[in-house]
Amino acid sequence: MATSPPDTSWSPAAWRGHPALQQPDWPDQARLDEVRGQIARMPPLVFAGEARTLLDELAEVAAGRAFLLQAGDCAESFYDHTAINIREKLKVILQMAAVLTYAASLPVVKLGRMAGQFVKPRSQPTESVGDLVLPAFRGHIVNGEEPTPEARRPDPERMLHGYHQAASTLNLLRAFTKGGFADLSQVHAWTQEFVANSPEGRRYEQLATEIERALHFMQAIGVFDAANPTLHQVDVWTSHEALLLDYEEALTRRDSLTGKWYDCSAHFVWVGERTRQVDGAHVRFLAGVHNPVGAKLGPSASPHDALALCETLNPQRIPGRLTLITRMGAEQVGTKLAPIVRAVSDAGHPVVWVCDPMHGNTFLTGAGRKTRDFRNIMAEIEGFFAVHHAEGTWPGGVHLEITGDDVTECLGGGDNLSEEQLDTAYTTLCDPRLNARQSLDLAFHVAELMRGGAAVA
Ligand code: PEP
Ligand code: CO
Repeated sequence: MATSPPDTSWSPAAWRGHPALQQPDWPDQARLDEVRGQIARMPPLVFAGEARTLLDELAEVAAGRAFLLQAGDCAESFYDHTAINIREKLKVILQMAAVLTYAASLPVVKLGRMAGQFVKPRSQPTESVGDLVLPAFRGHIVNGEEPTPEARRPDPERMLHGYHQAASTLNLLRAFTKGGFADLSQVHAWTQEFVANSPEGRRYEQLATEIERALHFMQAIGVFDAANPTLHQVDVWTSHEALLLDYEEALTRRDSLTGKWYDCSAHFVWVGERTRQVDGAHVRFLAGVHNPVGAKLGPSASPHDALALCETLNPQRIPGRLTLITRMGAEQVGTKLAPIVRAVSDAGHPVVWVCDPMHGNTFLTGAGRKTRDFRNIMAEIEGFFAVHHAEGTWPGGVHLEITGDDVTECLGGGDNLSEEQLDTAYTTLCDPRLNARQSLDLAFHVAELMRGGAAVA
């Protein structure tokens, strides 16, 4: 590859001249500066070449030749960092991807909200607990969730912890995905268990049997040859919201091969609904890194906002560079999405269109639990597909909050989880996640949508 001259128009610190929303009020500036320096000297977590491979894969999604599955926790926890937790989440992602790959007869790009999804935007900077007014909990990379002044004090030390936890999660992900765990026949055996042993699974018996037969066929003709790595190894890329700019800046490095800047904290980073202002610090930051990047668009986003993001984040119109993650809510997807899709596609921007059916469908139960209903989640995905079919654009993927644990955080699904059952295993640090069975159920529903059939009611 030819070496291009380094660009000098942008630097990792350039965001500092722009309004930076949602940043912690670090009480100890000197310690913050030391930690930033330490992280800046540490090895990158991912490599520029990997980010470029993901960019190429996303270009295929933009062209309608692949589908994106982006999934993982709302907020990863420092307390629940175990091999089992990582393995179970990966297992669900691999199963969902296998179902979708078969149904769509297309490659599925697998992107975890993992190994760095530690920080949360908040609607209020403070929270009142009894007589106390405390700083809001912003995720474990900033402070603790316990409602005490000590725990809520933003602590830069936590960024070091976040870096090391991300490194160890990535290490296990790389081992699992290259070391035999992701073997396609193994992945399908897990799915068979779901299909055989759960009421929601049994509805998908036919599709699962088809996958089984396809695998047998491949076996018979020798495709499963040990020398064929595609069936035994997969790429699972990492992503998170690039919200905590002190951390992202410290991990941004110039690639020695191309001279370009990459945010080496993850393969893909996105800007959230609350920080997507084109003149804001977050968009300025993302504009200069060469990773594939994303932007969330909620119901308040206008076609003009979407276009401005396209122009700012992808002026060269590189396919795969920009993913627009729409999260309109089931009720508004039918009216809000189409004008945005039309404006962007009329302008010729080659974006990846992804549906986040989680964040526009969150509500509080009477008992004060934050939840989401499986029916609304599916309804938004169906609305997303319908709009893209009508506009002649490619519904490129889904962005989900899931876990491999057997939690009870979202309503409905095969078990028809009720409000009363939410307390049984509600462990999320932030937003409610689909559990393993609800996630697979969703993958089968989406698979049916992609085959053009009506989703199973
Ligand atoms: C999130 O993805 O967890 C999130 C906060 O989403 P949004 O920015 O769309 O609200
Ligand atoms: Co969330």
